[in-house]
Amino acid sequence: MTAQRIYDTVANDFSRVNDLIIQRLSSDVPLVEKIAQYIIESGGKRLRPLLVLLSSRAAGYTKNEHLKLAAVIEFLHTATLLHDDVVDTSDLRRGRSTANAKWGNAPSVLVGDFLYARAFEMMVELRSLPIMDVLSHATAVIAQGEVMQLMNVKNPDITEDQYMTVIHNKTAKLFEAAAHSGALLANADDAQEQALKNYGKHLGLAFQLVDDVLDYRGDAEAMGKNVGDDLAEGKATLPLIHAMAHSSEEDCLLIRHAIRKGGLDDLPHILRLVETTGALEYTMKRAREEAAEALGNLKALPASPHKEALELLTEVAVARVS
Ligand code: IPE
Ligand code: IPE
Ligand code: MG
Ligand code: MG
Repeated sequence: MTAQRIYDTVANDFSRVNDLIIQRLSSDVPLVEKIAQYIIESGGKRLRPLLVLLSSRAAGYTKNEHLKLAAVIEFLHTATLLHDDVVDTSDLRRGRSTANAKWGNAPSVLVGDFLYARAFEMMVELRSLPIMDVLSHATAVIAQGEVMQLMNVKNPDITEDQYMTVIHNKTAKLFEAAAHSGALLANADDAQEQALKNYGKHLGLAFQLVDDVLDYRGDAEAMGKNVGDDLAEGKATLPLIHAMAHSSEEDCLLIRHAIRKGGLDDLPHILRLVETTGALEYTMKRAREEAAEALGNLKALPASPHKEALELLTEVAVARVS
């Protein structure tokens, strides 16, 4: 299977990153360690650390600091998930109860803070101002993306452009930062640094577009998250934005009303509308375009197994849905 081939390219490094992650979760405060361990050990695809390992190697890096950089990125990601599940009042993550469902909002927020802080401690150990610059900026952008999204909850008038800005900030920025910082660690030349940065950005956009399709078409068990969460929150993602623009006045009003109201009462009807208006297909088309853009950037890199794995990743990102 393609995904497995990608992980196999850096299998050794990957298991060392996992060890490092567990090791650096340690805290003298038992509840901190318990919650941090709970979410980290519940798995996750570890896509962003994978991106660090592959980007740095593809840009010719030969030492071992990429392991720490990969762990830093996964800590940042996990911190955003802890906070995101509080904000979204989600109760399922990585196939398990979310930390907020299990321990409540306050411990989840505080342990999220701990993970951010631990990530920054480790980042400093890398002693690279350019990497600190990229990662600290990305962290600020993600937080702003989440707030931007929050401001648009229950807003049926959000445009496709505004939606793209939100997903760039909340999701693609960390993919971008992962690939970019991998390039920086490898001292890549300007062309390769820019190429990897853009690769990460467009891969991240493709990934979130697909994620937003899966929210309507996915299988909760396979995803480890619930179907219909976005609608329940009153979050107008691209499938709904497109469906509103391409349905009858009556159906459009129904969607607008469902977004304003939140909840799942209208889910069956809306599921039909996102299919019949071609909204899911359109969102997938946009995802495939972003994946193709990501792929194009890899031309700047010399041939290597790591580059090949990055190429395959652009296929896997959009193959989560047919
Ligand atoms: C979840 O990301 C948050 C989004 C950006 C959609 P992932 O789907 O990569 O989460 P894990 O780490 O594999 O659980
Ligand atoms: C997750 O966004 C993005 C961040 C965690 C910053 P979502 O809220 O869309 O992702 P899921 O569906 O909870 O994974
Ligand atoms: Mg969420
Ligand atoms: Mg969210």
